[in-house]
Amino acid sequence: MTAPRRSETPPPRPVGAPPRSARITGWGMYAPARVLSNADLERMVDTSDEWIVSRTGIRERRVAAADETTASMAAVAGRRAIAVAGLDPDAIDLILVATLTPDHWMPATASLVKEAIGNTRAAAMDIAAACSGFVYGFATAQAYVTSGLARHVLVIGAELLTRFVDYTDRGTCILFGDGAGAVVVSASDAPPGPLGIELTTEPQGAYMIWLPAGGSKSPSSAETVARGEHYIRMEGKETYRFATKTLASTALAAIARAGLRPDEIDLFIPHQANIRIIEAVAKGLDLPMDRMFVNLDRYGNTSAASVPIALAEAVDTGRVAIGDRIVVVAFGAGFTSGAVALEWTADPANGARAAAVDPAAIRVRAPLDWDSVDPIPPLLADVLAAPGPLVVPLDDVVPGEPERANLP
Ligand code: ACO
Repeated sequence: MTAPRRSETPPPRPVGAPPRSARITGWGMYAPARVLSNADLERMVDTSDEWIVSRTGIRERRVAAADETTASMAAVAGRRAIAVAGLDPDAIDLILVATLTPDHWMPATASLVKEAIGNTRAAAMDIAAACSGFVYGFATAQAYVTSGLARHVLVIGAELLTRFVDYTDRGTCILFGDGAGAVVVSASDAPPGPLGIELTTEPQGAYMIWLPAGGSKSPSSAETVARGEHYIRMEGKETYRFATKTLASTALAAIARAGLRPDEIDLFIPHQANIRIIEAVAKGLDLPMDRMFVNLDRYGNTSAASVPIALAEAVDTGRVAIGDRIVVVAFGAGFTSGAVALEWTADPANGARAAAVDPAAIRVRAPLDWDSVDPIPPLLADVLAAPGPLVVPLDDVVPGEPERANLP
């Protein structure tokens, strides 16, 4: 085995040099091709498109294929962000992957991503702060770059939530989807623009969204699986209350630290959990909804991937221009929340470079002598295998019972 290549600490800066600033130079995203619509969910649980759209704003979400993993999606998004930044993958000094659905408990997903993107010298680690993870990672990247510990940091938010969702629980299964988004944060000698960061953690909400089994308190066993403790559990109402309160206050704190007022922010890129939560934030900040970027109708809640996917789409669809002040803001299990207010400096036209990255060309190292069981939850696999509304044969309908399309 060859000795690992080491990341080089950048040379000391000359005395009297202006403070090093950190800027986003690259962005990218990846969403799996398979769509899971509200109509598909109607065939799994007692719900309706009308209920899901009116209570959440979500119309569809993406589902990773059996051969995709959090690392493979993260690597595509990361490679795209590196291409947009115009960098060689080996220019990256640090790789941070924010996720609550890692490929394995160990190694860190970031380690697999490092090799898959073609980097030989970066340090790589995961960040666990649930849906706020990308914002926590972004703040960490800022600190590494401005302190001089790194020149280029790749921050990825990636999730494969559809494998941790109970498709008999209508309170959670309608919400979550899969995907990945990434940015490159790079050192610059240009004077720093306005920047404000706020990160919070409120442990009294620790068990409002959680996954009971698989950790050291309750290792996976036949019994934990029988109890469904390998699936996400959530107290929707309490989470909703926390989200509406905290998203606005966290964003406000970051904006104030940047020396700005809310009405000076051109675009908010909030965690895409629920349209009603985003509307409440807009109301709380006394801003119109056109200042809020929304794409949850197409992706649902992708946890740590939600903010970087939204950021990449916002830039690529012309919603962000050089000089715009933007705020990324998220909340999640923990309860965590985080916000960053900053001035956008990269040329949005660079986003076109992402098209050169072919997902099929990116490979994640597989374990030796080990075959995974089929990773897709059986109920989800059944619906994916039989697209479109199922026609229930008339002789299956018991007289007196409401007729409903059901699984075969
Ligand atoms: N379809 C139809 N009916 C439903 C569904 C559904 N999918 N889900 C719940 N209901 C029913 C309930 O059973 C209840 O019926 P009842 O009145 O007969 O008891 C009724 O609808 C109202 O249920 P509520 O839970 O009060 O619905 P609410 O309006 O609060 O919406 C929701 C539920 C969408 C989950 C909302 O609470 C929410 O978005 N909470 C925040 C969740 C969130 O953002 N989680 C992500 C956290 S980020 C992370 O770190 C993973």
